[in-house]
Amino acid sequence: MAGVGTILVAAGSSERIGAIFPKQFLPLGPDPMFFLALEGVLPHSDEVAIVTLPDFVGTVKTILRAAGASADLIFRGTRVIPVTGGERRQDSVARGLEVLSDSIDVVLIHDAARPFASPDLTERVIAAAREHGAAVPVISVADTVKRVRDDAVTETLDRSALGLAQTPQGFRREIIEQAYRELEGAEVTDDARAVELTGRRVVVVPGEPGNFKITTPVDLELASVIANCRRGLGPGYRAGTGSDTHRLVEGRALVLCGVPIPFEKGLDGHSDADVATHAICDALLGAVAEGDIGVHFPPGDPKYKDISSLLLLGKVVEIVREKRCRVVNVDVTVVAEAPKLAPHVPEMRRSLALVLGLDIESVSVKATTTEGMGPEGEGLAISSTAVAVVTERP
Ligand code: CTP
Ligand code: MG
Repeated sequence: MAGVGTILVAAGSSERIGAIFPKQFLPLGPDPMFFLALEGVLPHSDEVAIVTLPDFVGTVKTILRAAGASADLIFRGTRVIPVTGGERRQDSVARGLEVLSDSIDVVLIHDAARPFASPDLTERVIAAAREHGAAVPVISVADTVKRVRDDAVTETLDRSALGLAQTPQGFRREIIEQAYRELEGAEVTDDARAVELTGRRVVVVPGEPGNFKITTPVDLELASVIANCRRGLGPGYRAGTGSDTHRLVEGRALVLCGVPIPFEKGLDGHSDADVATHAICDALLGAVAEGDIGVHFPPGDPKYKDISSLLLLGKVVEIVREKRCRVVNVDVTVVAEAPKLAPHVPEMRRSLALVLGLDIESVSVKATTTEGMGPEGEGLAISSTAVAVVTERP
């Protein structure tokens, strides 16, 4: 029985993205990029040749088996054949053509670097390829297109006559095989071009604007956000914890969450010894895996002598931002036998919210005692624990 054979080309070296790892194997949300590209073509393919780098043949097999493929790589009813690629994209396609079964009469060729092609697009391309012999999905050009030479514009092109070619591209088998046989030394960047060179007509089907190719780091960032959102995960969340204890001594002011609190004693320390704010700083640094407060603000440094810990918190928020994250919420518990903190809690929350850039509803401050036990209970110290959640910025 005649069928559709897809060649998924995944043997490139990702030079433009500058990845140390081939982009087609980078995770986009929970799945690697090539796997998402495979899902776009799989429902309409009787067989898929995955053309990849020699070191990644095993990776492809492992990922497919983990996703439910059988030992001989039947995946969701379709036979998958891993094969190693060549130096140029066209060499990789040629390797794929060699391994397709005799029963295949329509060939689809798809970039593993296009994770968002829909099964509907695949179906349209197959129908047009069966009917016309060669079909390419094309989208219109949104930007004005200039011809440029020596850093100057020489011409503005009529963009209505131009289109951007995507994959999957589809062909009757004999047509694409003939095109590749006749290519000889010619270099082509897509398969439709190989057929065009034989003089044969290639028809156009509407492409999909979302079916963009991951070529640059920005494409990768965008694709990651899209992939996460489609899986309903939203951007990644990260949590951190922090804790701190300071000794209660005479002759020092007591400051908690940046708020001076009337009491006969205060906390001993190099800065203002605001134990609650310190715990929050550590929780935030923990959430972005940036060490702890002592690493960033060494205790002996005269710069930090008696400094308001709110200033340190402000700097920690900057570190979070530099790590491409933003604070979602914080929750801190202060353990003190005395003074009574409840009357000060609203002011403590307001003071933290201001520095964290959060709504007061996202800042929680709680106080507890230890019923007379331990250093806090005996009035020797005040301690704090905190949890913070941050989210990756899109
Ligand atoms: N490809 C391939 N074999 C090659 C070159 C490319 O299978 N020798 C594949 C890529 O893995 C990708 C698709 O062809 O899925 C489109 O190529 P491109 O986006 O150019 O990817 P790379 O060649 O990997 O990237 P770069 O050109 O930046 O090195
Ligand atoms: Mg390339």
